[in-house]
Amino acid sequence: MPRLIFFGIAILLLVWITSHEDATRPYSLLDAFHGEGIRTKLHENLYCIGYNFLESRETFRESDGLEPVTLATHGTSDMLKTIENMPDMWDGPISIGLYLDSQTSNALDYLANVHRCILAFREKMTIHFAFKISAFQTTCPTVIVPKPSISCDDFLRDQEALRKSVSAPFTLYPCSLMRNVARWGAKSDIHFVMDGDMIVSEGMAQRVKKVANEMIDGHRKVVLLVRRFENDVGTVIPRSFPQLQEALRNNRLFSVPAQECAVIGSFYDGVTVPEFIQIYKLCRANYTFHLLSHVFDVHEGIKLAENTYSQAAANHQIQYARRGAKQRYEEEMNRLYPLTQEKCGVFKF
Ligand SMILES: *[C@@H]1O[C@H](CO)[C@@H](O)[C@H](O)[C@H]1NC(C)=O
Repeated sequence: MPRLIFFGIAILLLVWITSHEDATRPYSLLDAFHGEGIRTKLHENLYCIGYNFLESRETFRESDGLEPVTLATHGTSDMLKTIENMPDMWDGPISIGLYLDSQTSNALDYLANVHRCILAFREKMTIHFAFKISAFQTTCPTVIVPKPSISCDDFLRDQEALRKSVSAPFTLYPCSLMRNVARWGAKSDIHFVMDGDMIVSEGMAQRVKKVANEMIDGHRKVVLLVRRFENDVGTVIPRSFPQLQEALRNNRLFSVPAQECAVIGSFYDGVTVPEFIQIYKLCRANYTFHLLSHVFDVHEGIKLAENTYSQAAANHQIQYARRGAKQRYEEEMNRLYPLTQEKCGVFKF
């Protein structure tokens, strides 16, 4: 199948400051600590959220006085390898929301060992987690931080096997919630919000820091966008502009049709929906979009094996919740932002 290259249209992903939208920030992050455990907090009577399970050691606050740009991202236990690689990819602080279920909560033990034993990980990574409550559960537990049971030498030697022993979740994934958990828990005020399976161009945190500090001040409604590309599975993911040009010349990069994004999907009101609802909502809130020219990101093409789970979840959603949710979403947008309907058009998904 020929794959067309779409340059500059598949944009996504934003940098912004917390203060606009985060009036809902649930509580002071310091509250998260409670003795030896992480106190988890009930969110919308549906999820328990634990902040700062692991905390970065570096602040990335430098003599330039600029606010660091935090990579705010999210995922599940089947992405441990990707999460481990993030410190190599991002030259700044990283805040991750990890979604767990009862089968995959041991991902926390594994990550605690990575944090303890690998310096680059410890310097940059702050990890929060969330899980869904059970029927009739009304309070959230304090999660005890596991005491390391093996030496770092042993852990590093057996790391592959230990990672493989953590299973993948089979659950509806609340993408928007986890994105927000990563943002609420971030330790700087400017965030690059990205899905966990993206690769950014090299040196991005430093490259966008100055322009982000100039344009995003917590008052103006401004969002910076980053061009997004999709890579053929198995080919080398470009990280610099020469590599990007090379990949484009060889037809190794292409754009993402919206319906494929929908499978990965974000989450609104109990429904999986495509990423672009974020963009739509920001448009309705009258944000101005600016496209960054000197950075980009790439998503490695859809992997079919991993897709079976999300496909099943999406099918469930299409059958049971989609139509009602679309209507509720439209009504909410019109109620919150009555003046921008004409500018942004009708919402479709
Ligand atoms: C949206 O922002 C523009 C300036 O960027 C302003 O002129 C316009 O009045 C705003 N519209 C609404 C509905 O707030």
